[in-house]
Amino acid sequence: MTHTHTPEVTGFFDTATNTVSYLVVDPATNSAAIIDPVLDYDQAAARTSTASIERILTHIRDHDLKLVRVLETHAHADHLTGADEIRHRTGVPIGIGQHITKVQKVFGNLFDAHDVTPDSVVFDETYSDGDHFMIGALEARVIHTPGHTPACVTYVIGDAAFVGDTLFMPDYGSARCDFPGGDARTLYQSIQRILSLPDSTRVFVGHDYLPQGRTEFAWETTVGAQKASNIHVGGGRSEDDFVAMREARDATLSAPKLILPALQVNIRAGALPPAEESGKRFIKLPLNQI
Ligand SMILES: [Fe+2]
Repeated sequence: MTHTHTPEVTGFFDTATNTVSYLVVDPATNSAAIIDPVLDYDQAAARTSTASIERILTHIRDHDLKLVRVLETHAHADHLTGADEIRHRTGVPIGIGQHITKVQKVFGNLFDAHDVTPDSVVFDETYSDGDHFMIGALEARVIHTPGHTPACVTYVIGDAAFVGDTLFMPDYGSARCDFPGGDARTLYQSIQRILSLPDSTRVFVGHDYLPQGRTEFAWETTVGAQKASNIHVGGGRSEDDFVAMREARDATLSAPKLILPALQVNIRAGALPPAEESGKRFIKLPLNQI
């Protein structure tokens, strides 16, 4: 017998950006949500395409599922989100953490994105810490897990936690905290909230980068495994230790390849910037700003 608190989870790995998008299905009702879809982007040609989205939508059609939501764990800096394209095709709402407005403000200013204002409705649902919603008969709970960005959330759906970029696989560690509004101490505290879930909770991470010593991409682990062996926070690593390690490491990292295209599209939920008079849309690359 299938228990309704156990969603079926399928990961779709994007090799171009090392992103994992998820399809979460309530087996009792066939209702489904997509988490962190990717809009493919060829930077040299400034061309978007939708093969990654098609893969998920084809799976939904083939399995006769009913899509009810697209969920974003945060505004990503490494890939463009496919959320708006999926909303456009299916009519489902897009949800994200309520603190997305902070990210929209910082990056709206960076790109002179005058269409993104405090009053503009870009996302359909913005969640506070502790908010609940349903995916069919499955209950989803939102935990605000800032640190990588100020708006990051974790979705706990049945026995599965979708942690975005707060934690990666135990042998890879955690995400950088040096973006605007990011903070290593805050991330440590957010991670503790994830680690306080039951040990058996399945943890689905937002990226995998094949660390040395592993030959297969992986994206599913458990809270127990993270607590025991995550190389950044496992084994009871102290907050001060973690902060020192994280900040030293972040100081060595360069900007993600797609940060400028990604953020100006992702603060718009994946919609492309408004067309100029000619009808063409442009990605802006503000000089010497990041
Ligand atoms: Fe991220």
